[in-house]
Amino acid sequence: MRFHWIPAISSQVSMSLRLRLTLWYGTSLALILVIFGVALYGFRAHSLREHLDRSLTEAATAAVRSLEHHRLGPLIHFEDLSADFPELAVLDKFFHIFSPTGSITIHSPNIRTHEIPLSRKALEAAFAGRIAFESARFGDEPPLRLLSVPIIQDGTLVNIVRVGTSLAPIEESLEGLAVWLLLALPVAFVASVAGGWFLAGRALRPVESITLAAQRIAAGDLTQRLAVAQSSDEIGRLAATFNDMIARLEASFRQVRQFTTDASHELRTPLTVLKGETELALRRPRSPEDYRGVLESSLEEIDRMTRIVDELLFLSRADLGEVKLESLPVRLESLVEDVARQAGFLGQEHDVKVSVRTLTPATVAGDELRLRELLLNLVDNAVKYSGPGGSVELGLVRDGSEARLSVTDQGIGIAPEEQGRIFDRFYRSDNARAHVKKGTGLGLPICKWIAEAHQGSIRVQSVLGQGSTFTVVLPLASTG
Ligand SMILES: Nc1ncnc2c1ncn2[C@@H]1O[C@H](COP(=O)(O)OP(=O)(O)OP(=O)(O)O)[C@@H](O)[C@H]1O
Ligand SMILES: [Mg+2]
Repeated sequence: MRFHWIPAISSQVSMSLRLRLTLWYGTSLALILVIFGVALYGFRAHSLREHLDRSLTEAATAAVRSLEHHRLGPLIHFEDLSADFPELAVLDKFFHIFSPTGSITIHSPNIRTHEIPLSRKALEAAFAGRIAFESARFGDEPPLRLLSVPIIQDGTLVNIVRVGTSLAPIEESLEGLAVWLLLALPVAFVASVAGGWFLAGRALRPVESITLAAQRIAAGDLTQRLAVAQSSDEIGRLAATFNDMIARLEASFRQVRQFTTDASHELRTPLTVLKGETELALRRPRSPEDYRGVLESSLEEIDRMTRIVDELLFLSRADLGEVKLESLPVRLESLVEDVARQAGFLGQEHDVKVSVRTLTPATVAGDELRLRELLLNLVDNAVKYSGPGGSVELGLVRDGSEARLSVTDQGIGIAPEEQGRIFDRFYRSDNARAHVKKGTGLGLPICKWIAEAHQGSIRVQSVLGQGSTFTVVLPLASTG
């Protein structure tokens, strides 16, 4: 189905949804209106007839009472009756009084119709002592409603009173109602469906803009955002969720791009060194000692690249959830002592003293090798970023259900604005670069991952120029 008058911006999908909504709405509305119309008409017809029958009954009761009072006989005149009961003479009703044979003895003067004989049914009902309601139509005249009431004295039927009235007012009233319904309901239907079509279009317009934005984003423009008014309705929430999703996508795309750039850059430096030194060495024949020197320097660069690649591989496997950790009891106090001993040698090279301050026994469930790597990385940094004559202290305390490992140094420190970034991959502060040339900036991201993989966390407190404390918080093993 095509609607050429819809702006070209609308896609087939939103069109058909709009159309479908309107069709569903229209169909149910039509059904409700038809049921409403029929019910209203039926109810009105019923109540009008009931009202009429009740007034006929009242008139008949009055007539019967009057007849009984005047001692019945062929000599009674209507005037005598109506003198007693003025309501008998009301204009819209007429009377007949029949003898038991069915012939008319008295009739009211306002009778408009020709002689209306007593029906067989009414006569039989009268002999059985029952009243009878009938509707009848004579020729082209308006239909009549008739009530026949038997008058029984001493067990014999003496007279039959019949009260009648025209059904024309009721028919006219019902006809008027039907005409009104037939005109008003379709108008209400058309107006409501047009309103429904309009509202469905309005409600779906933001969906359209979401679709368009999604198309632009799919084309590679992640800076796009949905310009949907801030609201907490379904569309507002959808748009907000969508914007959040694009923001996260954009951030992670940027991160990936940055990561690739940094990784290539980090690998390029050792490769450039390697290439330069090798070319230089090959320029003319050299002594075996010179070649040895070049090869040793090359090995250093190769080691560095191998480390970078290993670390990158570890991080990307960690991202993919492929790094499996042990979950065995690890006694942190012996781990700290071990690492302190190991770092002692490293410290000697840099003239930095490594010592253990507090050591509370604490056992966590985890992977000893990874936890050792974490601690070694932190101690390595602390030694590396301390000046000669500096000191590094390791600590282990228990705090409630947690173990706190800390590594404190009096080194170069980290500026407050950099403290949030040092856990990013490849991030190295300028300060650190000036202090130590070598380094990739992958140590802390690995520490962070290991701490978090143990349901723990890592944080830093540092003052630039005065030193830093890195604290790792790990949950204690339930038996620990
Ligand atoms: N103890 C510390 N004192 C001062 N700065 C630190 C300290 N530890 C880390 N940093 C800062 O955090 C940055 C990131 O540390 P990270 O361990 O990830 O990398 P790196 O030590 O520079 O290189 P790598 O560990 O890969 O050899 C460092 O470059 C430095 O700027
Ligand atoms: Mg490091």
